[in-house]
Amino acid sequence: MNFKDLVKEQLYEGKGKKIFSTTNPDLIIAEFKDDLTAFNAQKKGNEDGKGALNCQITSLLFELLEKNGIQTHFKECLDSNHILCQKVEIIPIEVVVRNVATGSLSKRLGIQDGLELPFVLVEFYYKNDTLNDPIITDEHCKILGITQNQDDLEFLKTQARKINSILKDFFIARKLRLIDFKLEFGKLNDGSIILADEISPDSCRFWDKDSDQKLDKDVFRQDLGNVKVAYEEVLKRILSQQN
Ligand code: TMP
Ligand code: ASP
Repeated sequence: MNFKDLVKEQLYEGKGKKIFSTTNPDLIIAEFKDDLTAFNAQKKGNEDGKGALNCQITSLLFELLEKNGIQTHFKECLDSNHILCQKVEIIPIEVVVRNVATGSLSKRLGIQDGLELPFVLVEFYYKNDTLNDPIITDEHCKILGITQNQDDLEFLKTQARKINSILKDFFIARKLRLIDFKLEFGKLNDGSIILADEISPDSCRFWDKDSDQKLDKDVFRQDLGNVKVAYEEVLKRILSQQN
């Protein structure tokens, strides 16, 4: 299938992707943009080819997760910047999984940057740019009307831990430490919840196993070098030792 034959109209434009409706009401197309933003878009940039790298990386990682029994919205990669996905209603929770303290966790709680956490930490953030994506508890989710169903929240946590376990093993075999990452989930019409959005160096932190060199969006956030070179290295590692 190809983008031109399927696409209907743009439904939404986010910071990193555009979403299009298709000739099939159950499917959408996500387009990965070259734009880079950080700190709730206070810092902006653009890197030619970044969108294509994230498109390929997301496609490979969703395929890996599907192979390991995780249901995702991913259907197929259409071309360099477009993936075809099942249409879901996005749950407005950013599910963050952390193996190592860094970023906002270290900043907020004063935990030493780089400290290996004693157990996998799963956090919820309210997906709301106006409010700057604040951290929330299960009870906040219910008060906000995101869900009244504790089972849904437990499912998000269980899936997040399973995904972490699959990805962590996959990356360490490729000499990359999976430090932390952000997931988004969506609901299908029957109420079931599946993994949605993307998994890429925009939404994960990867450190080289031997040097701890950062190979993710922190390169842009902290002006550490060339973003494209870092993302290309992540793709190269993903493609290495593939069965
Ligand atoms: P944080 O340390 O800034 O809270 O980020 C935790 C993880 O979530 C990190 O891998 C980057 C990712 N993330 C996003 O994908 N989108 C966001 O808006 C933020 C703040 C973090
Ligand atoms: N995604 C957020 C932004 O665009 C924050 C981040 O990733 O640092 O501003």
